[in-house]
Amino acid sequence: MSQADPAPIPRPLRGRRVTLGVSGSISAYKSVEAARRLEDAGAIVDVALTPAAARFIPPLTFRSLVQGEVAVDLWDPSAPAEQHVAMGRRADAMLVAPASATTIANLAQGIGDNPVTLTALATDAPLVVAPAMDSVMYGQPSVQANLELLKARGAFIAGPATGRLASGGSGLGRLIEPVELAAAARSAIGRTVGVLRGRHIIVTAGGTREPIDPVRYVGNHSSGKMGVAVAEAARDQGAAVTLVTTQPPPAGSYGIVVRPVGTALEMQEAIRNAARGADALVMAAAVADYRPAETAESKLKKQDAETGGMTLELVENPDVIASIDAPHLLKVGFAAETDDLIANARAKIEKKGLAFIVANDVSQSDAGFQVDTNRVVLLDESGEPERLPLLHKYDVGVAILERLKSHPGWPQRTS
Ligand code: PMT
Repeated sequence: MSQADPAPIPRPLRGRRVTLGVSGSISAYKSVEAARRLEDAGAIVDVALTPAAARFIPPLTFRSLVQGEVAVDLWDPSAPAEQHVAMGRRADAMLVAPASATTIANLAQGIGDNPVTLTALATDAPLVVAPAMDSVMYGQPSVQANLELLKARGAFIAGPATGRLASGGSGLGRLIEPVELAAAARSAIGRTVGVLRGRHIIVTAGGTREPIDPVRYVGNHSSGKMGVAVAEAARDQGAAVTLVTTQPPPAGSYGIVVRPVGTALEMQEAIRNAARGADALVMAAAVADYRPAETAESKLKKQDAETGGMTLELVENPDVIASIDAPHLLKVGFAAETDDLIANARAKIEKKGLAFIVANDVSQSDAGFQVDTNRVVLLDESGEPERLPLLHKYDVGVAILERLKSHPGWPQRTS
């Protein structure tokens, strides 16, 4: 990215306020990083601590980090009056992370005896609860029943994860990572007020891998970043998102249903399985046009020079996006081109039955494969091409969703 033409940093939570409730657990150090991530995403973060949390993390740490207020002591005469009520009212989401067994019980029973539980009582915003405790504690019927109660009332339960526990050993009970905590808050806000609530969008990401033998494949340079960015943007706006990807599940994918695939044929099947009732398919994946005619069952040996090397016979893959035929599904393709960008991209619109196409010149170093930014042109069959400046892939995703929502074929909903 050149100094003269930087892509603005995406701020998916610009204008939002998140209250972070921290309860007593050694994993509270992760909530510090989560607060930073939420503010990096554009939110103003208020923090409420239980007395136990304040023993693990000095409140000064949060005071130095966040733009919002930090509530520690209900009886502090220097704190604003009714601070918990103000923090609860202005929150777009409340994220309780870590949520100890005691805090979960208090939230479930409506007991408000510290800044976290009182603020939770004072808010109408979506509640995200991220449990953290020893695995035996987590497995207790009382803890599970409290979590079920919170879920039934609409709370989002985020985690826990399996791994090393402070109590020794490893098991289910670890607080999820800060990137997932921030993603859970974004997802909860989207599901509550996002403009894509009630919609289902399928996104594909990554390059397909067409196996030659158990260790080699025909593939390409796609990292999956572009598709993941579209999926995150759709999730943040409240859509149900199915991400069909050849890459491992991306960090921060809370709220996104990830369907791992390898080959073009697997991708086609995964899309077909998800397509019923979906509103749109955004095909950012780089699909191999050809695959080996046969996949060897064991590793192929190097051929000696006398045999003239190896010849790989390829057969054509289906055109995946063209082959998907579902009522009301708007299809958005990408075109990865190195020359004649507009003409080559436009030719694909009719051929593949697309609502519009996202053309990117993959010969540029700051666009296309693997980088975090892209420079794209959106075009349909007849209109003027819409040239976007260099943007982070997340913001390219936002622009694609805007175009989808204003497309005449976008299915209208009465509710
Ligand atoms: O993953 P990144 O590293 O972030 O890189 C992003 C990207 C460069 C891969 C992405 O921006 C992009 O351009 N994706 C489409 C790549 C591609 O396959 O382009 P294409 O022009 O060959 O195909 C046109 C469209 O048809 C694409 O939407 C493609 O997914 C689809 N296709 C292609 C072949 C095929 N057999 N079936 C398909 O559905």
